Amino acid sequence: MCGIIGRIGRGEAIEPLVTGLENLEYRGYDSAGVAVRNGAGIEIVKRSGTVDTVAEAIDGADLGGSLGIGHTRWSTHGPPTDENAHPHTCATSDVAVVHNGVIENHAALRARLRDAGHEFTSETDTEVVPHLVHEHLDRGLEPEAAFRRAVDELEGSYAIAAICDGATAIYAARQGSPLVVGYAGDGYFLASDVPAFLEYTDTVTYLEDGDVAVLRPDGVRITDRTGTPARRDRQTVDWNAGEAGKGDFDHYMLKEITEQPTSLAQAIEGRYDADTGRIALEDLDSFADVERVVLVACGTSYHAAKYGTVALRRSGVDATAILANECSLAAPPIDEETLVIAVTQSGETADTLAAVDWAKRHGARTLALTNVVGSSAARETDQQLFIRAGPEIGVAATKTFSSQAVLLSLLAHRIAVDSTGTSGLAHEELCRELERLPDHVSSIVDESTAASIATRYHGRDAYFFIGRGYGYPVAKEGALKFKEITYEHAEGFASGELKHGPLALVTPETPVYAIFTGEEDGVTRTNAAEATTRGAPVVAICPPGHDAIELADAHLAIPDVHPILSGLLATIQLQLVSYHAASLLDREIDKPRNLAKSVTVE
Ligand code: G6P
Repeated sequence: MCGIIGRIGRGEAIEPLVTGLENLEYRGYDSAGVAVRNGAGIEIVKRSGTVDTVAEAIDGADLGGSLGIGHTRWSTHGPPTDENAHPHTCATSDVAVVHNGVIENHAALRARLRDAGHEFTSETDTEVVPHLVHEHLDRGLEPEAAFRRAVDELEGSYAIAAICDGATAIYAARQGSPLVVGYAGDGYFLASDVPAFLEYTDTVTYLEDGDVAVLRPDGVRITDRTGTPARRDRQTVDWNAGEAGKGDFDHYMLKEITEQPTSLAQAIEGRYDADTGRIALEDLDSFADVERVVLVACGTSYHAAKYGTVALRRSGVDATAILANECSLAAPPIDEETLVIAVTQSGETADTLAAVDWAKRHGARTLALTNVVGSSAARETDQQLFIRAGPEIGVAATKTFSSQAVLLSLLAHRIAVDSTGTSGLAHEELCRELERLPDHVSSIVDESTAASIATRYHGRDAYFFIGRGYGYPVAKEGALKFKEITYEHAEGFASGELKHGPLALVTPETPVYAIFTGEEDGVTRTNAAEATTRGAPVVAICPPGHDAIELADAHLAIPDVHPILSGLLATIQLQLVSYHAASLLDREIDKPRNLAKSVTVE
């Protein structure tokens, strides 16, 4: 949700800035802009529309200068217009600011500044910031002090970068929204996320809440709000620019779907022993004291959390998944004996971080299941389990879901053994089959008939997805993926619920994707038959030779494996169906309308 980039160093800033914006576009694509400082002052190019639109305008503008900032926007305050695009400036354009987050006291600040004679040109909360900095500069403060004073007046969440005419520096502050510094051979970067500058460097420092960073050509200084130096580690990220690129694929989403043999192999490597059936989740402390598990998450990660809940309950552990944004009003009881697992790809989802905070306030033990090593969730929890999926750029999450699901399955077994002495999961069989998981995924990706099925059912009224047990969260995730990128009506149901309401919507124009995981398949088959009886075409997702194929209109094949893995493999077929359906409709697959990959506001 909104991406910011800054670059200072030798040579021209504009190329790395535009590259950074292209790499950050998954965070928002309503508008984009850059501000570059050179001897003539601060020059700004910004537009509503995608980064490509701005890049074209930049080509014609000849923006010279070795330091600059940029922004790609996911609108919160004010529609996606040229005026509301970042960077924002003060009246004299000697301060330019980009911002990710929400400044909660912007209305009061704006009113005060207006009374003092400041004129505003946008509807954004951000615009108060350059006016505040300008006000302090006018009072005679140096740019760094003026920036600090301005930041002190802000309430809410923000990652901010600012430049001032006459100062060879980028000023940055972080409170509740991610910000990372990159150290390249010829200069320094600042960005919302590492992929922004991965072509230039993999050496980074993640800023923490309350940090203020000043980037100059000769170094980066990180302090707290009061100016006291803050010790922050430099880390080398183990992602590379190739992983973050699109390669020969038309879309990141397809690239990321096809990467799942590798991402899953990375997720499970060294974490189980196929011979002994032992599940070793590296250095996670014993879960012997854990009485119950509450999983908090949003979006696709919530479906992975539901998947994990099935595995935990089947292992004999008391477990509940709750939408992170429901925690404040409808949370289950938690205490010191509760393990709260935050499932979050980015580790930056504001709703999920708020739920982690809620868990900590109640004394619960916290664990982050995340893809991003330096993320807020990783830093704010007691323990972390990294899914090692590599960078995921497509807004619709794919490879991270499968990695979350498989790791939650392993974690479920480990928690059950530690806390109850036994596990209801057939983990020896699971461990044996994990060996073959990457091959199974490869065969699905290579042999899937999802493209022809998407074509066959193109242009229908609605699309339903049903499953039970592990198949239920997969049905929900299948429908979410479908609606996210096709903009068609899609819903996922527990297959047993079809007859309790949704069946009223089933007609010959509503394809029903039915997921068979190898458990209670007879009942799911009966539920699917309730749909075929009403004329609906059923697509059975099941192993070849399964008796559901007889009643189905079409078949998507998955191998006959442990039910935990069946659900996960069915997900991959459904990801491909959604991808091809969206492709037929010529949708912006990697950047679906109104959505952003990392939602850093509540
Ligand atoms: C956004 C994205 C979803 C994602 C959700 C949670 O809504 O569009 O794809 O599942 O955030 O993100 P997280 O990073 O916490 O997994």
